[in-house]
Amino acid sequence: MCGIVAYLGRRHAYPILMNGLYRLEYRGYDSAGLALLNDDLQVYKTKGKVSDLEAFVSGKNISGSVGIAHTRWATHGEPNNINAHPHVSPSGNMALIHNGIIENYVYLKEELIRRGYKFRSSTDTEVIIHLIEDFMVNVEVPLEEAVRMAMDMVIGAYAIVVISKHDPHKLIAARKASPLVVGIGDGEFFVASDPTPIVEYTKNVVYLDDEEIAILELDQELKIRTIRNQEKVPYVEKLEMNLSQLEKGGFPHFMLKEIFEQPRSIRDSLRGRLNAAQGVVYLGGIRDFEQKLVNAERIIIVACGTSWHAGLVGEYLLEDIARVNVEVEYASEFRYRNPIICEKDIVIAISQSGETADTLAAIELAKQKGATILGICNVVGSSIARATHAGSYTHAGPEIGVASTKAFTAQVTILTMMALMIADKKGTIRRSRFHQLLNELEKIPSKVEKALLLNDKIREMAEIFKSASNFLYLGRGYSFPVAMEGALKLKEISYIHAEGYPAAEMKHGPIALIDEEMPVVVVATNKELYDKVLSNIQEVKARKGIIIALVKEGDTSVANLADYVIELPDTEESLMPLVATVPLQLLSYHIAVMRGCNIDQPRNLAKSVTVE
Ligand code: F6R
Repeated sequence: MCGIVAYLGRRHAYPILMNGLYRLEYRGYDSAGLALLNDDLQVYKTKGKVSDLEAFVSGKNISGSVGIAHTRWATHGEPNNINAHPHVSPSGNMALIHNGIIENYVYLKEELIRRGYKFRSSTDTEVIIHLIEDFMVNVEVPLEEAVRMAMDMVIGAYAIVVISKHDPHKLIAARKASPLVVGIGDGEFFVASDPTPIVEYTKNVVYLDDEEIAILELDQELKIRTIRNQEKVPYVEKLEMNLSQLEKGGFPHFMLKEIFEQPRSIRDSLRGRLNAAQGVVYLGGIRDFEQKLVNAERIIIVACGTSWHAGLVGEYLLEDIARVNVEVEYASEFRYRNPIICEKDIVIAISQSGETADTLAAIELAKQKGATILGICNVVGSSIARATHAGSYTHAGPEIGVASTKAFTAQVTILTMMALMIADKKGTIRRSRFHQLLNELEKIPSKVEKALLLNDKIREMAEIFKSASNFLYLGRGYSFPVAMEGALKLKEISYIHAEGYPAAEMKHGPIALIDEEMPVVVVATNKELYDKVLSNIQEVKARKGIIIALVKEGDTSVANLADYVIELPDTEESLMPLVATVPLQLLSYHIAVMRGCNIDQPRNLAKSVTVE
């Protein structure tokens, strides 16, 4: 869950590393550090953000054209200067950065301590650099071989990069279950947790696979070996990413930029897949499994967090339109509860980052049981994208704000197309209805544009509610996952306690919380359950709760009852989550800004959760 970046070449490494750390800061931001090779090995690290590291190194020796850098999200050992990476070998000659968790580090550490090694930090990482040096000194093998032998001993997840004073023109990188990508420039190499620190220097990248070791040497070709010591031919891919996607583009925060990007990102998710005029919906990435999907008796969706909420919308869509039995599972629960999985099952794994450890583990479990696994991922080449049998990329573009926004709507867009594709092939909806839904889906980006015009009004509402201590979000049917997502957005960036609940469930508990202090956001856009939602609103009003209602344009009944109303452009009920989520994202955003919260890097969170 940390971010790592490394450089080897002829340029000044420091600005490349620092720039890279800023790009990767979304992955973790409790401490940061870097190591540079010049006349000596210079290591600088500090608690705090990348900007704290930048201030810390100011005036110090930052020369050198080889270096490694790290931004941390603490797992083992509190965030402090000592536990920050890089970690240095006992002799002080080598430095290492690591993203992942070494599960057997206690055993390895005890062994090393028994043999006289001393440890400085309380991290799991430090054992790796001790082991590497131990192999170099006692077995007298080259650096890459020492790395191979060390990584053969560790159990767990790792993406590492090592440098050594004795090999000043070499970087060794290795990965297992944590992402690592190598950028190949003209006489230079870059290594990073994702391509964002690399894209401005080269578009040629190699995504390392599990248990691969990359040997990078100045003026040499990239070499890859496996932990089993087999040579691999590097597979060079072209990055489809540009720099402007990684910048705020005039917005004060990435989150706001990403909220406003949604008309574009939904269009990109639809592009080449939906042609309403011709009545076609086609997901090329899963074409080989299309028939299996159509014939599936059961679909299991696994995901975490916001992606799980998208999965919930997917369940409603697939059951409603395609009449297939769907189960939506928290990946972390699914993998540990001995679930029943059959060969005929289709498992759909949803993940923005494509690196979420629990989702990956759920995929592996389902694979072992013989199920077909399809992915819905945003990050191209990510671990989940590669672990699945096939999949559809969301094409939302890099999502940098830690709170997921455009990824959610893109995931729901893909799920909608999947449901429509299955429904059409199975004949569970009439052709005319199919056309109607395709036409409406095509209009969703412009409806989201319209929803974004509510921004000023929502900012005014945020002013009223910014000091609330609790929020309740209610919805029924398709609006229920929207309520859950609205509550999650609010709590993660504003730190206000918020609960998303099925509206009717409110009277089985949460109603006890309602008083004149409690804002209740009701997503009241359903046609079918309209009267029931009206009753739920009455129940809240009777207890003096404050109603903020999301309604369809022209709705008067709810609007007359509610204290505050957000009017949304009308669309099909099944497509409403794509529109209704947007004002809730904006509400959270503005409240969090007014409370002075760190929008793009909320406390304790990280963008990709690569620990279990
Ligand atoms: C919420 C959020 C998280 C992620 C979750 C899964 O805003 O960002 O809840 O949705 O950690 O991440 P991915 O989708 O990368 O698997």
